[in-house]
Amino acid sequence: MKRYHTSIADFLPTINFCLPKALEIPYHVYSMKELKTYFIRTYGCQMNELDTEIMAGQLQKKGLVPVGDEEAADVLIFNTCSIRDLAERKVMGKLGRMGRGQKRHGIIGVTGCMAMAKKDSLFRKFPHLDFVLGTNNITDLDVILDEVLYTQSQVHKTEDRFEENLDYLAAKRDNKIKAYVSIIRGCDKFCTYCVVPYTRGQEVSRPPESIVEECKKLVDDGYKEITLLGQNVNSYGKDKPEWGCLFHDLLHKLDSIAGMERVRFMTSHPIDITVELMQAIRDLPSLCEFVHFPIQAGSSRILKKMHRIYTKEQYLEKVALLRQIVPNVSLGTDIIVGFPTETDSEFQETYDVMKEIRYSLAFIYAYSPRKGTPAMRWKDDIPEEVKQERLQRLLELQEQVSNEERSQMIGSTVEVLVERWNKDGKTLKGRTRCWKKVIFEGDASLIGSLQQVTVHSFGHETLIGTLATKPLIIHK
Ligand code: 5AD
Ligand code: SF4
Repeated sequence: MKRYHTSIADFLPTINFCLPKALEIPYHVYSMKELKTYFIRTYGCQMNELDTEIMAGQLQKKGLVPVGDEEAADVLIFNTCSIRDLAERKVMGKLGRMGRGQKRHGIIGVTGCMAMAKKDSLFRKFPHLDFVLGTNNITDLDVILDEVLYTQSQVHKTEDRFEENLDYLAAKRDNKIKAYVSIIRGCDKFCTYCVVPYTRGQEVSRPPESIVEECKKLVDDGYKEITLLGQNVNSYGKDKPEWGCLFHDLLHKLDSIAGMERVRFMTSHPIDITVELMQAIRDLPSLCEFVHFPIQAGSSRILKKMHRIYTKEQYLEKVALLRQIVPNVSLGTDIIVGFPTETDSEFQETYDVMKEIRYSLAFIYAYSPRKGTPAMRWKDDIPEEVKQERLQRLLELQEQVSNEERSQMIGSTVEVLVERWNKDGKTLKGRTRCWKKVIFEGDASLIGSLQQVTVHSFGHETLIGTLATKPLIIHK
């Protein structure tokens, strides 16, 4: 039986009502005013973390407060990721277990990429679910909650087109030192393995004035580091030529904000990294010398099959140019092993490229087929053991390169943004401009400040140092 509440549906034609929620038990509450608490569990990337902060801001505006316990929350949201199979299975398992357990009287919703990929089919699998809200519709969270309460039905809104009136300034951030700022949403690149163009839609840049306004406010509020987010930040402004503001222009605007200490960005598609951007990294004091520059594979045949639109040689040329313009730049990458038909020698090309480039940071993934992507038409023909073996070899290589890099930094003095106490409770922890973790002894008053630290040793993934009174060699 389908239940529609026509009076409200007339006003809100784009929201879809489905089945009444799991039959017998009505909610304890009937209006937003009576919802008191929320809990949002976030999976996946930084963009999801930011979306969670924006949703939290909306809920807090309505008077809800966060609780630390899923069970106790009147509104429980799973902000999901579907980039790889594992990410999706985690949420599906969790939702399944909740359905089998004690019936909750609060509202349960799914947002994020899985909401876009699976839409209202989630209701069939999870009858205890109340709403599904897509990545382009998070502004409608409070409307959706009203609908759920008013109609006692399952409600979904998953539109392909991004709503440009997203209230970025409402974001509620737990971190008081570092903030994410969204500058472009969606992706037009359509790599053959990737769900993002389908779950986050086409590229839509955010107006520069709105970004500058938010960044000014963050700097006024004492934030020391801003990370600009987008699936491909280098495409910024290309969809709105009338603004006359491309990515490097935006970086210049942000660098001129008084008090702006550090700006980072992620992530970039190598094809769109321009000379102007490289020069901005060299010239703008706030812009950190770290570029996430995902190669994905070292074989040009596999890159073509992935639709990465560059060859290995073109990628290497870009890296050489970047290193020529910004000699102290650090590079990060993403790599997929075991893409359909990848041979041993093609994998070896990936290994050799990684060895040649010497990344500071590498995220390495085993290929997992995603529904709806073009790569699904190819057989996932690389056995799981082979994928894991390849993955392991690259992890070992990366560990070796990173250790060598860390050991070369002994004796140098680095700028550290001090973020918090380390787990041991005795040392402080922060990051260099090039994203390296550093721990050193100091007191709580240093948290939130930039300090010079001289590196004397290193541990697993961490540089260890002491506060420097006088910087000797500045190693960014
Ligand atoms: N399988 C494995 N890794 C993937 N990524 C994206 N899609 C897949 C997939 N189907 C990786 C890419 C991307 C990163 C965010 O996730 O390396 O850059
Ligand atoms: Fe996915 Fe490729 Fe877009 Fe990155 S550039 S989000 S890998 S489609």
